[in-house]
Amino acid sequence: MKPQSCVNIKKEWDIVGARQLGREIAKKIGFGIVDQARIATAISELARNIYLYAEQGQICFDVIDTMEHKGICVTANDSGPGISDIGQVMQDGYTTSGGLGAGLPGVKRLMDEFDLKSVENKGTQIKTTKWVR
Ligand SMILES: Nc1ncnc2c1ncn2[C@@H]1O[C@H](COP(=O)(O)OP(=O)(O)OP(=O)(O)O)[C@@H](O)[C@H]1O
Ligand SMILES: [Mg+2]
Repeated sequence: MKPQSCVNIKKEWDIVGARQLGREIAKKIGFGIVDQARIATAISELARNIYLYAEQGQICFDVIDTMEHKGICVTANDSGPGISDIGQVMQDGYTTSGGLGAGLPGVKRLMDEFDLKSVENKGTQIKTTKWVR
């Protein structure tokens, strides 16, 4: 596993930076153009949520390259308000900001693995992985 690279999310523009770096890494590992776009979209959604709800945080990328499988792991970390009801935020259409409420359920559909951990008033960590096929 190569060393992790992270992008700090603080300004709206950082969302674009995270998306671009993620797409580059995905391309390098061997994802096709459609999967690159899926991964980039998932990264945007996670970064936008950090920016909107936690104000700041990080998006980190890990390349997984073993004999069995190859993929990208995208982790979103913040020390924001956290999520009290994880089941609720994973429902299509649930939003507290007048958005579409499609972000998190969308990320889950776009990626192969999805793990959301959150503690109220402590923060949120979302770990997602996509495998090269
Ligand atoms: N990092 C986070 N910290 C705290 N709350 C969050 C975080 N990410 C998401 N949430 C909560 O989960 C809800 C659902 O998130 P989701 O991204 O699915 O939809 P949305 O951001 O409201 O709208 P959309 O992403 O479709 O524009 C948000 O409205 C917000 O209340
Ligand atoms: Mg969102």
